[in-house]
Amino acid sequence: MAVNLLLGLQWGDEGKGKIVDVLTKNYDIIARFQGGPNAGHTLEFDGIKHVLHTIPSGIFHDKAVNLVGNGVVIDPVIFKKELDNLAKFNIDYKSKLLISRKAHLILPTHRILDAASEASKGKAKIGSTLKGIGPTYMDKTGRNGIRVGDLELSDWKERYRTLANKHEAMIDFYDAKIEYDLQELEQDFFEAVETLKSLTFIDSEEYLHQAQKEGKKILAEGAQGSLLDIDFGTYPFVTSSNTTAAGACTGLGVAPNKIKEVFGIFKAYTTRVGSGPFPTELFDEDGETMGRVGNEFGATTGRPRRCGWLDLVALKYAVHVNGVTQLMMMKGDVLSGFETLKVCTAYKYKGETIDHLPYNIEPENVTPIYTEMKGWSEDLTKMSDKSQFPKELNEYIEFLEKELETPITIVSVGPDRTQTIHR
Ligand code: IMP
Repeated sequence: MAVNLLLGLQWGDEGKGKIVDVLTKNYDIIARFQGGPNAGHTLEFDGIKHVLHTIPSGIFHDKAVNLVGNGVVIDPVIFKKELDNLAKFNIDYKSKLLISRKAHLILPTHRILDAASEASKGKAKIGSTLKGIGPTYMDKTGRNGIRVGDLELSDWKERYRTLANKHEAMIDFYDAKIEYDLQELEQDFFEAVETLKSLTFIDSEEYLHQAQKEGKKILAEGAQGSLLDIDFGTYPFVTSSNTTAAGACTGLGVAPNKIKEVFGIFKAYTTRVGSGPFPTELFDEDGETMGRVGNEFGATTGRPRRCGWLDLVALKYAVHVNGVTQLMMMKGDVLSGFETLKVCTAYKYKGETIDHLPYNIEPENVTPIYTEMKGWSEDLTKMSDKSQFPKELNEYIEFLEKELETPITIVSVGPDRTQTIHR
């Protein structure tokens, strides 16, 4: 049985959590493959808004098993908070949440290192969520990390101490004057580790292999977006994992030839949180309207998101890198009321017009070239069927499908589960 894959095509915050939640009824297993609590996956149903950071977005369904894959980095403290929130809603997470032994742990000192590194960068800072993501993946690739499976070993606290001591020396090196009380942080950490240990740890690659043999349906859930990928994103203003399709193979142990559908999620416009180039960014009333109507504030940090027109050059790149087979357009409702919509279809780059993403997309190198389209004024949020779509929305969708050579199979018209229209 094949594995389907769902990921974000822009700079994150596309609405992956909502779509995973909508699709979960079709799957036996939802498996998160990379990132950590830098993510904020927002789900809304029955008038309640839930934000998940590390736990897969299928957790609210009774049937599906939710797996935190080996490619994910887990902060036990944040994880515990997520579990406590689920408990408030009487979600029986213990029976349907599995953790890969090979997932790495975010230590308190990773978070401090993140803050120290950012502070030392001054104006060149990445705009990290400061959840310790970069330092944890550095320890993973540097072969120093502590994994979930280590918690089952008797000497894990000694290994913890050795690594934490090393981190303290590194924090001093940054000389960033970050104040912290490690003892207090460690108290929370060790307590949260005990909660984590009450969950089921598994050899997840083997589990998924067996599940595939048994014909189980698996959905791999990505976090962040393709333009934040450590290899293919707008480096160095990226996160520290592979957010693109290949990340699902390494982050779960799923073979590439087992992946069937690749669902690419994108917003009808573009947003970005944190630093880094953003060619179609708007600094005018239109950008302000997108931010206000779209409630564009980070689900993890609360930071306002930068907003701009849809960038098809960047989106096409993401479709190619991921091998997207179906597109899902989010927040079409936010564009209601714009008389004219702009879509960037090419860049002016070093005096030439190009339609691919070049190495360097800083504003001094790239000027977006726009195609203008007529907007629509109808409120989409109450619509329940594609037959109700205004003509201009259909034209917008069809234009994107043609440019991206990929069908748009879902149009989301609001944050709630029910505001999801299949085409
Ligand atoms: P980090 O992964 O927390 O170090 O952040 C690196 C960059 O990725 C920063 O620009 C963050 O704002 C951005 N980022 C990380 N996670 C997310 C996310 O889930 N949504 C949107 N941006 C994110």
